[in-house]
Amino acid sequence: MKLLITGGAGFIGSNFVHYILKKYPDYQVVNLDLLTYAGNLENLKEIENNPNYKFVKGDIADAKLMNELIADCDVIVHFAAESHVDRSILASEEFIRTNVIGTHTLLEAARNNGNKRFHHVSTDEVFGSLGATDPAFNEATPYDPRSPYSASKASSDHLVRAYFHTYGLPITISNCSNNYGPYHFPEKLFPLFITNLIEDKKVPLYGDGMNVRDWLYVEDHCSAIDAIIHKGRIGETYCVGGNAEKTNKEITYKILELMGKDESSIEFVKDRPGHDKRYAIDFSKIKNELGWEPSVNFEEGLQKTIEWYKNNEAWWKDIKSGEYANYYEKQYNNR
Ligand code: NAD
Ligand code: DAU
Repeated sequence: MKLLITGGAGFIGSNFVHYILKKYPDYQVVNLDLLTYAGNLENLKEIENNPNYKFVKGDIADAKLMNELIADCDVIVHFAAESHVDRSILASEEFIRTNVIGTHTLLEAARNNGNKRFHHVSTDEVFGSLGATDPAFNEATPYDPRSPYSASKASSDHLVRAYFHTYGLPITISNCSNNYGPYHFPEKLFPLFITNLIEDKKVPLYGDGMNVRDWLYVEDHCSAIDAIIHKGRIGETYCVGGNAEKTNKEITYKILELMGKDESSIEFVKDRPGHDKRYAIDFSKIKNELGWEPSVNFEEGLQKTIEWYKNNEAWWKDIKSGEYANYYEKQYNNR
């Protein structure tokens, strides 16, 4: 099988490239990535010379290039996106360009090349924000995106479904909860907090720290997508979750404990505007239909993640001293 993976130099995409080449040594993988601030070829160093792997630098909104690449693949697994909520609050144009226009360009290329199989990687954030006692999101939950990021992902989901209904494009969609693990860009909660603590810095907890997210170890997200592209029903959506709902405060205290720090390392800062209160996922559809469930429990995943950041200081120090430093200063001044 020939896979075209978009955004394969980012956090989840690079984990997926590693996962596929290991599990299916005879598959061919083309990784198309624009190498924005979030794309990093260091994530793929170990497999860059694998004869079944090829990297192409390019933009998903480049119709000519997408037509060329899609003509020569069997399945598209679409990760490429602007992915950070806080950045979408600072400036949302790139989110519309990549997440909406880029996805549309890919869908057109898939349609123009004999209706290629298309898996769209999406997020639970499209469903909005839950109250403390609301039932978890599932595939029937109405869309209610509340940040420029989630609104752009919701638009892309709608386009993907429209191409199924209108043109018979063989699509599937996954809406997954928060991932954590290796190669996670240190602007997001887990890698930011872990690396700040390694550097003896404080960790900025938004608002009262009581917002809830459901956490999934990234390899489990990869195995869910693997199950969907091989066994998923065409036209269907699958919600993917980690069975690990936690407040940000709980996570922070757990990380502090595992890293031998105390609460004096916490700095409570101004809340994210429009901060969604709670996400939770009911993943019974993918469990019942495809036999998928998370395999890594939260404690184990967190330990593995902390170890990875301790053992890969060069990877994140390089990032934290680059363009990211400008972004972080802007964020800080914004508080
Ligand atoms: P990321 O920001 O780490 O990586 C995104 C990748 O896309 C980068 O390598 C970047 O260079 C590339 N990219 C951006 N714009 C591009 C363009 N125009 N053309 C080609 N490549 C481009 O993101 P991530 O956290 O790995 O998320 C991957 C996907 O999974 C996204 O679609 C995101 O919405 C979704 N998702 C993420 C999470 C999470 O917790 N991180 C959870 C659920 C779903
Ligand atoms: O739910 C899936 C989504 O998870 C993905 O679609 C997004 O691409 C991904 O970035 C992630 O979004 P979140 O906004 O939930 O992740 P983030 O790591 O930015 O924040 C997690 C929680 O931690 C959130 O409630 C905000 C809070 N937070 C975050 C940062 C960066 C803090 O308290 N302090 C921080 O410095």
